[in-house]
Amino acid sequence: MALHILAPCKINLVLNILGRRPDGYHELETVMYPVPLFDELDLEPANNGVELSCSDPVLPRGASNLVVRAAEAFFEHSNVKGGVRIRLVKKIPVAAGLGGGSSDAAQTLVGLNELFGRPLGADVLSELAAKLGSDVPYFLNPGPALATGRGEHIEPLRRFHLFDELWVLLVYPGFGVPTRWAYKALQKFPSALNGAPGRARRFVEHVYAGNLSGAVDELYNALEAPVLTKYPLLQLYRDFLNSQGAIAAMMSGSGSTIFALTSNEREAHRIRQRLIEKFGSTLWSCVVPAGARRE
Ligand code: C5P
Repeated sequence: MALHILAPCKINLVLNILGRRPDGYHELETVMYPVPLFDELDLEPANNGVELSCSDPVLPRGASNLVVRAAEAFFEHSNVKGGVRIRLVKKIPVAAGLGGGSSDAAQTLVGLNELFGRPLGADVLSELAAKLGSDVPYFLNPGPALATGRGEHIEPLRRFHLFDELWVLLVYPGFGVPTRWAYKALQKFPSALNGAPGRARRFVEHVYAGNLSGAVDELYNALEAPVLTKYPLLQLYRDFLNSQGAIAAMMSGSGSTIFALTSNEREAHRIRQRLIEKFGSTLWSCVVPAGARRE
């Protein structure tokens, strides 16, 4: 039996950083929101070993690939004797702040667990995921969520009805931003580094109260301070999307993706068209509905 899996991406609607921790990571509160743009994974049992093939020749296929590390962690902790052949088709831009690699790794864990009769419980899966990366636990069950700690403590949230009619325009500039660098550069921006807690919760309360302008006021990404300073082009895209009538435009995660929230599908396509006219058709962009939900 082989398994075909779709691994979604996310945007951060709030990414509030509360300070640097003794372990070098950063304490944060973030509202993660799934977006229906998917990488594709095919998992096929094999006699032994983990073999990965990938549509993107730039990605490593060895032990430095998060998918390979996820699969190896699965076999190590489940005591399953066997191996897997994995085919990964990348649709989500890489190092884009959309969590594509984390999602692939999480779905590899979930998929292998299904394929081999669920030897691992939810707790072990979460533990393995957290070791692979701060965002990986979120993608074990991606839906609207509030994440705290270094991002690994997940509080699932009810569907955002306020977003049912909204659409998202994703804009990727063609280069990635290394997450580790973004956090390091944040040290030069003390107010962004030491945000006051509560913003993520306030955002969620506005969403459930049906208060769009209140929610929009709380949209925030602390990593914009270092990243937009270093890459003014991203600031240019952000300003342009706002000037074209987006409800809001901001960076996701540690970048480099800038996303716009729009009031409907037509608006999203209209703004995308303006973007292409202004910056050229080689710029990667994509329009998706924001009405994502936890099923
Ligand atoms: O956890 P992950 O490996 O995805 O994180 C990549 C890098 O981002 C870390 O090595 C760390 O430098 C930084 N990071 C951080 N605080 C977080 C999450 C990530 O400093 N909460």
